[in-house]
Amino acid sequence: QFAPVILAGGSGTRFWPRSRKSRAKQVLALDGDETMIQQTVQRLSPVADAAKVWVITNELLHDVIAEQLPEVPREHILSEPAARNTAPACALAAFLLEKTEPDTVIGVFPSDQVVKDSPRFAQVIRAGAALAASGDKIVVLGVPPTRAETGYGYIEQGAVADDATKLAGGIEARRVKRFTEKPDKAHAEQFVATGNYAWNSGIFLWSARTLAGAIREYCPAMVPLLEKIATAYGTDKFESVFAELYPQCENISIDYAVLEPRSRKGEAGAEIYCLPGDFEWNDLGCWATLHENMADCSPEKLAFANVFDETDPLNVSIDSNGNYVYAPGKVIALVGVNNLVVVQTKDALLITTRDRSQDVGKVVAELKKAG
Ligand code: GDD
Ligand code: MG
Repeated sequence: QFAPVILAGGSGTRFWPRSRKSRAKQVLALDGDETMIQQTVQRLSPVADAAKVWVITNELLHDVIAEQLPEVPREHILSEPAARNTAPACALAAFLLEKTEPDTVIGVFPSDQVVKDSPRFAQVIRAGAALAASGDKIVVLGVPPTRAETGYGYIEQGAVADDATKLAGGIEARRVKRFTEKPDKAHAEQFVATGNYAWNSGIFLWSARTLAGAIREYCPAMVPLLEKIATAYGTDKFESVFAELYPQCENISIDYAVLEPRSRKGEAGAEIYCLPGDFEWNDLGCWATLHENMADCSPEKLAFANVFDETDPLNVSIDSNGNYVYAPGKVIALVGVNNLVVVQTKDALLITTRDRSQDVGKVVAELKKAG
């Protein structure tokens, strides 16, 4: 039994002005024809039927998501009455599934990632789900790091796990020594230099029982709230109970709430296993990473190319490189500029550089302050 739980309640503010509250990046086709959440479900199709998929999102995105994912059961698409970050969202799925099928393996999947090798992805997920099905294990996918990114969590890897010999496809699982969420630059550099660390992909596999048990251990205050919500699920009281109790859950990510503290039990005690995410993977965090992931613009080519997204073929570029420009319906001319990000929508214009595009989220914060 395997149930993917897709987290799609983030606001994606770093894609302003294309992402607005009701058009967060999960529901945008930033890269290709399918939206990010459709790609996420599609990628999982060799491992799980869409009827098994759950989506945890918010009220603003609910209808768009339901429309984009017609094959996912309506009662599996839940809208949080208030965003409480990923720990309560994961915990909610665990308590709901634990009631009826505690042995089900829950796969937690972010909805903001690009994976280029889907068959390999499916193979690793299948092996991870098999590993997570026995005992009290947490399985996480770790991606080989290519830079000292401070926006990710880091997994310090330990010994190769004995049980790993049984994994299909020769996939090797390693014990996790330590988990560090979003380190500072100095630590990130140190981690990457040792060669013993992987990036946390944000993809976790665990049985409903294990996940609910970890929440009972590390987030006891949430437990009575979630138990009441799970009991009300499927009844006509659900909406009011959910609306009243869910916002009282602690606002914390699953990485800080469960992974970090549990990893402190040490390599053997924590029972966290890391599987290699050895497929091309990227958290499309901002305009610069989106740019680097576009089909026609590999990182190597990037330095010499400009990307004009969905624009007139009559674009002109003179002595200009590494620019990303999105301005539908406009003829664009670049003269002697490099590494710019320019995004125009009907009522907004963003001008920044590739280096600073991580900071675009601050625009949204400023606009909020200004009302
Ligand atoms: N339902 C729900 N509710 N979903 C949420 C919420 C929420 O309140 N907040 C975030 N999400 C969803 C986002 O839409 C995204 O798909 C996923 O949960 C992860 O949230 P992010 O906000 O994108 O997290 P992150 O990228 O900063 O960090 C996480 O992912 C990295 C890899 O992409 C961590 O797990 C890091 O350790 C990891 O390296
Ligand atoms: Mg993310």
